[in-house]
Amino acid sequence: MKTAIVYYSMSGNVEQTAKAVADAIGADLIRLQPEKAYPDKGAKKFLWGGKSALMGETPTLQSYTFDAAAYDRVIFGSPVWASTFTPPIRTFLRDQAGALQGKRFAAFFCYSGGGGDKAIVKLAKALSIDAFDAAMLLIDPKDKPSAENDKKIADFCAAIGGGKRSVILHTRRLTLRPWREEDAADLFEYARDPAIGLSAGWRPHTDVEESRMIICGILSAPEIYAVCLDDRPIGSIGLKMGDGTDMTDRPDECELGYWIGKPFWGQGLIPEAGEELLRHAFEDLGMRAVWCGYYDGNERSKRVQEKLGFVYHHTTENLLVPQLQERRMGHVNLLTKEQWGKLRKS
Ligand SMILES: Cc1cc2nc3c(=O)[nH]c(=O)nc-3n(C[C@H](O)[C@H](O)[C@H](O)COP(=O)(O)O)c2cc1C
Repeated sequence: MKTAIVYYSMSGNVEQTAKAVADAIGADLIRLQPEKAYPDKGAKKFLWGGKSALMGETPTLQSYTFDAAAYDRVIFGSPVWASTFTPPIRTFLRDQAGALQGKRFAAFFCYSGGGGDKAIVKLAKALSIDAFDAAMLLIDPKDKPSAENDKKIADFCAAIGGGKRSVILHTRRLTLRPWREEDAADLFEYARDPAIGLSAGWRPHTDVEESRMIICGILSAPEIYAVCLDDRPIGSIGLKMGDGTDMTDRPDECELGYWIGKPFWGQGLIPEAGEELLRHAFEDLGMRAVWCGYYDGNERSKRVQEKLGFVYHHTTENLLVPQLQERRMGHVNLLTKEQWGKLRKS
């Protein structure tokens, strides 16, 4: 998911936060600056800005580049002024109203401790949405650094997901964490086995160096996790999104993929990891549906998908398996958020 962080900052608190979030999730920064700067000192500072915010002014902005088509999600960053969002953000919303249609939204505010909740509600209202994918309030994070603010930023980035850094997830027996380069030997141990890769459509790894390259490339994509027992990887599971999947073009849908080393087959570990990853997809990442497929004859994978509640969607007779340059029959299943919610209740 490609994200833009659109922000205004008078004295650097929002700017510092915007940069931290951009670094963590790999977003582009778009800074808004009014042509006529607001006074930033003395009594005028609060009077002018406060009045402008209260009156819903839309100051003219210095030119900025925002290629709306390039982004699936926009995160707004603003100080709280007079319990609302700042006028430069209001100008942006007015000018980009059409371009923002269909995007996902998140927001964060820096403030001194009053009116933050109101500002979130007012910004959501201005965007005509009920709620943000994620929202965060920080008390002057540049001026008053605190562990609490750092944790809030980490949680906000985790809730947004889809960025460079994945979160760490836990199940009863497993930890799901990002792959690390030093996992190469463990990865090779299982991925060298033809029984693993060929049924999923990839060639067995030939040496540790190849495994290392695959960790640095394919497995470093967002939302791809090493399935770990006692912090040692025994398999992989992930949500492929954007260009990483050909099952959907929608930014709020993704594809579940997984494999586990042969010594661990038959213990229900992938369904256990899959359950947690589906929760993460629907609750933390705001997905509306998850796709999952298997090649004809891969009964093990089919059973995993049945256990997780996936519903048959369609079959493709002559599907190209790109890595192996061969054609197979592929079955595709779907699980919507609604179906998942019903399963959780039953
Ligand atoms: C004009 C103005 C109005 C403000 N109104 C509020 C407010 O209603 N509630 C609050 O908690 N802080 C308020 N503040 C404080 C800022 O929101 C806070 O210091 C914020 O962290 C500044 O972000 P920045 O450094 O990115 O500009 C106001 C500050 C200014 C300049």
